[in-house]
Amino acid sequence: MNILITGASSGIGKQLASDYLADGHRVFCCGRNLQALEELKQQHPDSAILLNFDVASLEDCGESLSSLQSLDLVILNAGTCEYIDAENFDAKTFSRVIRINVEGTANCLEYLIPMIKAGGTLALMGSSSSFLPLPRAEAYGASKAAIEYLARTLSISLKPSDINVSYIAPGFVETPLTERNDFPMPMQVDVIFASSKIRKGLENSKELIHFPGKFTWILKIIGILPNRIQQFLITKTLAY
Ligand SMILES: NC(=O)c1ccc[n+]([C@@H]2O[C@H](COP(=O)([O-])OP(=O)(O)OC[C@H]3O[C@@H](n4cnc5c(N)ncnc54)[C@H](OP(=O)(O)O)[C@@H]3O)[C@@H](O)[C@H]2O)c1
Repeated sequence: MNILITGASSGIGKQLASDYLADGHRVFCCGRNLQALEELKQQHPDSAILLNFDVASLEDCGESLSSLQSLDLVILNAGTCEYIDAENFDAKTFSRVIRINVEGTANCLEYLIPMIKAGGTLALMGSSSSFLPLPRAEAYGASKAAIEYLARTLSISLKPSDINVSYIAPGFVETPLTERNDFPMPMQVDVIFASSKIRKGLENSKELIHFPGKFTWILKIIGILPNRIQQFLITKTLAY
């Protein structure tokens, strides 16, 4: 397959790129950190193609992506996380997170949707934080709720073009992004587990891929309860 993965220089994206390359696929590995991407190229010189650009810039995306041709699988995984102190709400922090996670995804979509083959797959990286409101995740959770909506609506709009759309909603995964967290991260999994769940879900054309099940099902169930019960449970059990 011809596969494109954004955020392939670190964490979940790097593991996905490495696993798909090991399985013999051709992978367009995207990221800003060229040095980190070079590791994939060294291991798979013939099948790893490096694309070095900032997803937050539509112009950069155009320069790097517009000359590509048909793709079987596109995983828009690049993202960041910053937390909000609601009492001292910082609009710039909010905007940085939305710019990379939401606008960055949209910038890639403009160039990549026309390149996805009929029968191909588009996967958007969200988070299980989109299932319910979590303290301090005002920016991150809002960005992932936007991605969830985007995935669900694209899934309908791209059906006539025979493109499958998957929304990926992990719980906590051990990566440089979560290393910065200063609170307990229940049922955290490693990137090998995350990559295996994502690849299996995509292979089975799942519209929603969430893991680890014990954690994400609890969030999903809390997320459908009446607001007052949700808030009580979140404050008692998940607040940090
Ligand atoms: N780890 C978790 O627990 C967890 C849980 C749920 C969802 N997720 C989501 O999974 C995705 C990957 O996260 P991770 O945990 O693997 O984090 P990570 O190790 O920090 O990786 C983030 C990746 O995104 C890329 N990226 C960030 N900003 C970018 C930009 N402006 N332009 C281009 N690339 C950019 C980074 O590449 P460069 O540094 O090279 O630019 C890096 O490859 C994110 O969307 C995150 O929200 C993670």
